[in-house]
Amino acid sequence: MSNELVINIKNLNIELVQDKKKLIVDFSLPIYQGEILGIVGESGSGKSLTSQALLGLLNKANFKLTGEIIFNNENLLEFSNEQFCQIRGSQIAYIPQDPMTSLNPLYTIGYQMVDAIVNHQKINSGKAKELALNALRQVHLNDVETKFNKYPHELSGGMKQRIIIALALSLNPKVLIADEPTTALDVTIQAQILRLLQEIQTKKNLTIVLITHDLSVVASLCHKIAVMYSGQIMEYAKSNEFFARPQHPYSIGLINSIPNFNVKKLMPIAGKPIELSQLITGCRFNTRCNLAIAKCFNYEPSLRKLDNDTLARCFVLTDSQGS
Ligand SMILES: Nc1ncnc2c1ncn2[C@@H]1O[C@H](COP(=O)(O)OP(=O)(O)O)[C@@H](O)[C@H]1O
Ligand code: SF4
Ligand SMILES: [Mg+2]
Repeated sequence: MSNELVINIKNLNIELVQDKKKLIVDFSLPIYQGEILGIVGESGSGKSLTSQALLGLLNKANFKLTGEIIFNNENLLEFSNEQFCQIRGSQIAYIPQDPMTSLNPLYTIGYQMVDAIVNHQKINSGKAKELALNALRQVHLNDVETKFNKYPHELSGGMKQRIIIALALSLNPKVLIADEPTTALDVTIQAQILRLLQEIQTKKNLTIVLITHDLSVVASLCHKIAVMYSGQIMEYAKSNEFFARPQHPYSIGLINSIPNFNVKKLMPIAGKPIELSQLITGCRFNTRCNLAIAKCFNYEPSLRKLDNDTLARCFVLTDSQGS
């Protein structure tokens, strides 16, 4: 890990063009070289929308994006589709949730890998095949020549996800965004894929953004954590600090509601998550928070620094810091 910023998301807002409903609000997040950053939140909290914004995959006719996403000293929000095509895959790579549908069933693994490599790097198909086979070895697939000639349906889900990771790595990206990369896999395969991502990160000093609804995935892998709730970051902290001393009422609720941690009794968070587009006055967590005070229903808290460098979006925590 270093102090070098790779991506800096500043005050990102995503709203629907049609009805101006805000989906992602005031989202700021620094991503540093060589770290694994976990973005965790319940289903529907806006994790995928945020990752799609980073990859330029949100159609401008449907979504209005404001703020800044700084990468290589440029604001990606000002990029055209053509400019995004230049960096998507080769500089910012993506591992989607479902390995079953992310490979084209009509072409062999080898064809798809060589095609992607040749499209991004000015090399011939022989050299591209070499790179592809090397990438398959890096993700610990054996008998790679045989796998190279197989069609996706001839491989298991775990193998396909390894191939997608190999495909992402073969272009030597700076940043890998993995959106729920293990959710569609069996538990034992999940653990193998997570170990693989960790190994690759260490070997290549790659920056990984790991998006998940599963706090235990984040606990085992990530250096830093951003907790999302209803389109906003509620807490941002170093991972060890977060699990030792979670600050935000939502983070505490999340930790208390999952097994495997040292809680005597599981305590689910009361109520249901709110829809991203639902209008709420005050803190977006106020409908479920047992610490809410009157102010929480009238004013919206902003993300502020606590004593231990954690950032939290909560009046009860930040007001007592005298800020
Ligand atoms: N085109 C859209 N129109 C309206 N709401 C949308 C649209 N796209 C996404 N959303 C909102 O975003 C939510 C899903 O966000 P998403 O980023 O997929 O969440 P997550 O990945 O955290 O599960 C939906 O529940 C919906 O509220
Ligand atoms: S600002 Fe208020 S409602 Fe929101 S998390 Fe803090 S205490 Fe709860
Ligand atoms: Mg998602």
